[in-house]
Amino acid sequence: MCGIVGYVGREEAVPVLLQGLYKLEYRGYDSAGVATVQPDGIRIIKTKGRIKNLDDKIQQEGGLQGTCGIGHTRWATHGAPSDVNAHPHQSQNGRIAVVHNGIIENFLDLRHALEADGYQMRSQTDTEVVSHLLEKNDTGDGVQTLLATVKQLRGSYALAILSADRPQELLCTRRDNPLIIGVGQGENMIASDIPAIIAKTKQYIVLDDNEVARVTADEVQVFDAQGQPVQKEIQTVNWDISSAEKGGYDHFMIKEIMEQPKAVRDTVSPRIENGLPRLDDAQLTDEMFHELRNIHIVACGSALHAGLVGREVIERFARVPVSASVASEFRYRNPIIGKEDLCIVISQSGETADTLAAMREAKKKGARTIAIVNVVSSSAAREADSVLYTWAGPEIAVATTKAYSAQLAALYLIAIKAGLARGTLTEEQARNYCQQILALPDQITEALRTRPQIEHLASLYHNRQSVFFIGRGVDYAATQEASLKLKEISYIHSEAYAAGELKHGTISLIEEGTLVVAMANDPDLYEKTLSNVKSVKARGASVIMVTDQDVEADPEICDFVVKVPTCDPALSASLSIVPMQLFSYYMGLFRGCDIDKPRNLAKSVTVE
Ligand code: AGP
Repeated sequence: MCGIVGYVGREEAVPVLLQGLYKLEYRGYDSAGVATVQPDGIRIIKTKGRIKNLDDKIQQEGGLQGTCGIGHTRWATHGAPSDVNAHPHQSQNGRIAVVHNGIIENFLDLRHALEADGYQMRSQTDTEVVSHLLEKNDTGDGVQTLLATVKQLRGSYALAILSADRPQELLCTRRDNPLIIGVGQGENMIASDIPAIIAKTKQYIVLDDNEVARVTADEVQVFDAQGQPVQKEIQTVNWDISSAEKGGYDHFMIKEIMEQPKAVRDTVSPRIENGLPRLDDAQLTDEMFHELRNIHIVACGSALHAGLVGREVIERFARVPVSASVASEFRYRNPIIGKEDLCIVISQSGETADTLAAMREAKKKGARTIAIVNVVSSSAAREADSVLYTWAGPEIAVATTKAYSAQLAALYLIAIKAGLARGTLTEEQARNYCQQILALPDQITEALRTRPQIEHLASLYHNRQSVFFIGRGVDYAATQEASLKLKEISYIHSEAYAAGELKHGTISLIEEGTLVVAMANDPDLYEKTLSNVKSVKARGASVIMVTDQDVEADPEICDFVVKVPTCDPALSASLSIVPMQLFSYYMGLFRGCDIDKPRNLAKSVTVE
């Protein structure tokens, strides 16, 4: 959600900024812009639409020179997507340019005060007020000016600032929005995420909330909110640029779907030792599980769907009550949570605003917090009491696939560990589950072999108006993810229903040709689900069954069977979701959708 790039060095800034912006496209955006300092002041080029449009506009306008600049991809919050609302925004005298990610909540008050002082707004954005405030507060010292300015801001932000008066210097700061500083040789960068800097450097600093940095070609200075210098650790990216590229695939989504065996293997293998889970990195001890009263899983979107599976599995293995809540609801519900509780937050990005706020709420109430996170050093990873990283590697497609699978794997490990510690699983059972988890990567590879069949099914069904997904237990949890994937990628209306609940109302929507996808992978619930499937088939539905059972298509039951490998029913979501991810992908493809960047969506949702 919005992307920031800054460059200061000895090269021309614009090609570096554009390359960085392309790498941040996955975050979702509707307009883009760049600014550099030139001998006669700051020059900005910005436009609505794709980065390619910006690139073309820069060429048409004769290029943009300068070795210090900032760039931005905007995802509209205040003011429609338009050239004028695109970032960077310039102060009244034109000497300062600002790019911003987040929301300035008190921007209207600030705007009115600035207007009363004679400042004229050119855009409808909340960001523009920051540029004018910086001009108004300017003391001649960039860091002091920025510190004074952010004191007036309420809300969340990552800001990168260019000043014509200090032409070889970038300033930046953040609150509740990610920002890193890429540390190079004779050149430095600012960015929202690592892919934007990795072509230049693998060394980076993570800026913490309320810190301010002054970045020149040869130096990075970081200060705390009081203006005192802070020593920051320089971290190193442990993956290669090729991980963030398509590598021969048409889309990141399909590449990431195919990478799932590796994502699950990398998440699980280092954490199973002598056949049992070892979660030392997450500091999850047996004592902690002994004393546990409740587990609260909190997340958004697909991460929440992983949590729904986690709830089923942890309750089965560890016999402790688990709730799974939408983070945006949890945070305002005054949740009943205390010292004997564990709060598990799940997030690919580790920057989702609602998830972070929910975690802070749980912490405030004394619960221990653990974050299952994919992005190293992200806010959730740093703020939680402990972190269990999913090692899925960079995920670029907006629709998550491999991170979801890695989250499931991490939750299984927690469930087994908790079951062992609480004595609800015997060592033999725990060993057996661990073995099955270690087998999942190969089974996922097998599930990926449904790809040609799924492509065929999508060719048959991509014109349907509406799709229903049904299942029971873990299957029901997995259908919720399958349904969200389909909505995101193909824009087809879809709903996931507990199979037994259909008859309480929703079955009235089933008519001749309605597509119903039924997941049935739990032998104990198979017959029950089958009755529900028969009842929709009898009303004219077209039915696809996703199952590990040995069944054939049958005119009374289903039109097609998608066979997935067999594993313990508790772990089955890891396999049944795979053909459904492929289904969404091909449905979207047949419908001509923008697979990696679905409309209105952002990879990392850093606003409420
Ligand atoms: C997944 O396909 C979605 N784009 C979305 O639901 C996502 O899972 C959600 O926004 C949470 O993101 P996070 O995992 O980065 O916290």
